[in-house]
Amino acid sequence: MSQKTKKPETESAETEPTIAAGGGSAWPFVLLVVLLFGCFLHVESTGGAFRADVFQAGMRTLPPQTDDPPAVKSYKRGAQLYAAGCVGCHQATGLGSAALNFPPLAGSEWVVREKPDRLIRIMLNAVEGPIKVKDITYDNPAMLAFRDVYSDDDIAAIATFIRGNAEWGNSAAFVTPQQVKAIRDGTAAMGSQKWRVESLEPVP
Ligand code: HEC
Repeated sequence: MSQKTKKPETESAETEPTIAAGGGSAWPFVLLVVLLFGCFLHVESTGGAFRADVFQAGMRTLPPQTDDPPAVKSYKRGAQLYAAGCVGCHQATGLGSAALNFPPLAGSEWVVREKPDRLIRIMLNAVEGPIKVKDITYDNPAMLAFRDVYSDDDIAAIATFIRGNAEWGNSAAFVTPQQVKAIRDGTAAMGSQKWRVESLEPVP
């Protein structure tokens, strides 16, 4: 190292005597070498290598059926909203808890239908009374109505997240704010009344 750093001093002494006269003229070069080496180390430890773990962790949270950017954005937002508004009862696994009388959303026939019409209604006004989900009947009035809590965008995002959550085994199509708005307006007369299963069954 010391030999290397002295080299430019002698070289510059021949070509540019004014710089060599300083005696300490090697320092800028030493500094440059240290800086460059530092940059090299940084690139090597961060961007230099393909971080497969980071890439895959990111991919796992994306719904497999959509590569449409707005839907992917909505899905990610839905994941955040779910973690705040639904996770306490339906759990991060989407499995709910049979013991605590919270039904699952993973594989639920109320969630992964072809049309999101029942799900949107349930999210807007909640459902009460006995409801059968994956062969188990739940009856717990704790489900909350989100009509006055979440915007059309929010409900579409949460619905997109729970319908398309591959980790839960769900792969239903994403939901748009326009779909939510149509149902919100169409069911405005419901006010804060909750759905019963009988009135949801005719809904596609
Ligand atoms: C305080 C607890 C609680 C919270 C918070 C909650 N739910 Fe529920 N949810 C329930 C209960 C209890 C039922 C079953 C109601 C019944 O027995 O009729 C239910 C039923 C459902 C159903 C229909 C049945 C099923 O499992 O598919 C859906 C869909 C649903 N909830 C979605 C959501 C979503 C989405 C959120 C967040 C925006 C949410 N819930 C927040 C407790 C909750």
